Amino acid sequence: MYLILLGAPGAGKGTQAHVLTDLIKIAHVSSGDLFRENIKNGTPIGIEAQGYINRGELVPDETVIEMIMEHLSTPACRNGALLDGFPRTIYQADALNEALREHFKEGISRVIYIKVDTDELLQRLSGRWICPVCQTPYHEINNPPRVKGKCDQEGAELYQRDDDKRSTAERRLQVYFNQTMPLIDYYKEHGLLLEINGQQPVEKVTRDIVTALEAIPANEGKKSIMLGETEESLVA
Ligand code: AP5
Ligand code: MG
Repeated sequence: MYLILLGAPGAGKGTQAHVLTDLIKIAHVSSGDLFRENIKNGTPIGIEAQGYINRGELVPDETVIEMIMEHLSTPACRNGALLDGFPRTIYQADALNEALREHFKEGISRVIYIKVDTDELLQRLSGRWICPVCQTPYHEINNPPRVKGKCDQEGAELYQRDDDKRSTAERRLQVYFNQTMPLIDYYKEHGLLLEINGQQPVEKVTRDIVTALEAIPANEGKKSIMLGETEESLVA
């Protein structure tokens, strides 16, 4: 099963992915997290991506497609994946469709579009703190950790992303409007889009996503998802 989380920077993709992957036992594949890991390790992909990320621009399609496809072929993704931040262009979406069909004999089950107003997005990005170990995002006001500055799960010291500073965050939003928003209509036309109001408490957003996923008709075969099922029963 392949699900996509679509939404602007700060919409809550990472926040929801951390909860949903626990609930539906599926691998979380975040293109942003993979780039940050590559940057930390000084790999060729990381070296290429760094400049684009620092400027709030998209990394070239071919690079991100290669990175994601390689990751989808690892054992961690043998039962599919929850894609967070990929695809982000029509070109990437076409490449994903083709690769899934060709290599995994499967299509995308649903695209979860988390909708949030622009003003709220900037406020969320400026107050975000992230765990360097498990990548869980927190917010100093909306979604604080139990102990200030420490991850609830790992106890690690939280950090702020360089690309969350105001000017870069604004650029990221512009890029999202120009290059990624066309995917909303693209997936709507394919009958795959689930639109979720992201401007509600985190738990309510999760509940709405779960309800929308559970409403997928059972006759869609592999596309059908009953939350709480085990990995084995999902692929049976
Ligand atoms: P990436 O890391 O994917 O960043 P992004 O898309 O800009 O999204 P964010 O991670 O900023 O937001 P999010 O939706 O995950 O929000 P979060 O849950 O953290 O990409 C970074 C860069 O990598 C890109 O700019 C690009 O350069 C490159 N890149 C990545 N993918 C690429 C691709 N496919 N092609 C090309 N280049 C690519 O939440 C944000 C904050 O809000 C947190 O503080 C959280 O606690 C809070 N919050 C969450 N939900 C709620 C809620 N319901 N109510 C109140 N607060 C909330
Ligand atoms: Mg994220």
